[in-house]
Amino acid sequence: MLRFLCISLFLSFTMAKNLPKTMKAVGLYKYLPITDVNSLIDMEVSVPAPKKREVLIEVKATAINPIDTKVRAPKPNVETQLRILGFDGAGIIAEKGEEVTRFKLGDQVFFTGDLSKNGTNAQFVVLDDLHVALKPKNLSFEQAAAMPLTSVTAYESLFDRLLLTDKDKGKSILIINSAGGVGSVASQLANNLGLKVIGTASRPETEEYSKKHGVHVVLNRKNDLEQQLKDNGYSNGVDFILVNYDPYPYWNTLMKVIIPQGRICLVVDSSGLVDIKPLKAKSITLVSEMMNTRIAYNTEDKYRHTEILEAVSKMLENGQLKSTLSNIISPLNAENLREAHKLIESQRTIGKIVLSGF
Ligand SMILES: *[C@@H]1O[C@H](CO)[C@@H](O)[C@H](O)[C@H]1NC(C)=O
Ligand SMILES: *[C@@H]1O[C@H](CO)[C@@H](O)[C@H](O)[C@H]1NC(C)=O
Repeated sequence: MLRFLCISLFLSFTMAKNLPKTMKAVGLYKYLPITDVNSLIDMEVSVPAPKKREVLIEVKATAINPIDTKVRAPKPNVETQLRILGFDGAGIIAEKGEEVTRFKLGDQVFFTGDLSKNGTNAQFVVLDDLHVALKPKNLSFEQAAAMPLTSVTAYESLFDRLLLTDKDKGKSILIINSAGGVGSVASQLANNLGLKVIGTASRPETEEYSKKHGVHVVLNRKNDLEQQLKDNGYSNGVDFILVNYDPYPYWNTLMKVIIPQGRICLVVDSSGLVDIKPLKAKSITLVSEMMNTRIAYNTEDKYRHTEILEAVSKMLENGQLKSTLSNIISPLNAENLREAHKLIESQRTIGKIVLSGF
């Protein structure tokens, strides 16, 4: 036992010692349009050190999400220190704080990011271990990196905000933008639960993609949704609505097509003020979802974030959930990351873009 302990102590000591002092990272000082070469720049910075409950992860792959382009969007602020973005990834535990017991060095993990810290667009990232779970074993780092942020968001939306349970089998859910990152996970989860899943898309590719990810009926978002719901047998409306898009242009329609006592969850900020009066007559529940709330506000149930990530890992491992990875860009450098941001800003991507390798 003592011998084993000595060997593992020795191993962790040597592994820690082998860590490089500096790392490659892509980040920003100024918030500029993505066409500007200075909007995201290559840097060599020190490898951060994990504190008590934190882990240092060697990043193997990182996914790009709309949150990256929102945070990077042009504004006058100037950072005095490099700001590294990236809020989704997969990698290997390289070092850990003294209070971390859930992981050992060398564990393969996947993780959500933390807006208040430097992100995953670097060779190493430090995160509170609440953000981290073991990687699904039979997924590549790239396939795994595509999933944490959208999966936790979709899972929380359906089960913690819309409060779906087994009893809702057979009920209907309308998922606005069902081919998007969150939409294509939510549609799989809702389908698994036995709901009738109705999606919205606007192109043949996104319609097909939605159908592959559990959507039963795809509506064309450019046409009258209320009429299309009627044509598909939903004249009384739908039981649940998940809005993975600016709710503003959809608001009046949502108020009409939700059934009395139905529930609506918003995942994206509204671009304008909406009128909440119509909620009352039908006693509609309106809820919001932000993936990081529990950890950011240190809520009592913050461990739920980790539990969800662990549940998602199991579902990916046993095939209940499919990775939505569609595009791998390599290596991770400023030029390629700017390209990925451009694709996200075009709003025409299908599935997730992942960057890997340095
Ligand atoms: C992010 O990394 C840069 C470069 O190492 C560092 O100067 C900065 O303090 C870090 N920011 C945070 C919030 O840790
Ligand atoms: C992982 O294994 C499960 C169960 O065998 C399977 O359904 C799933 O497709 C596998 N995933 C990948 C990416 O190979």
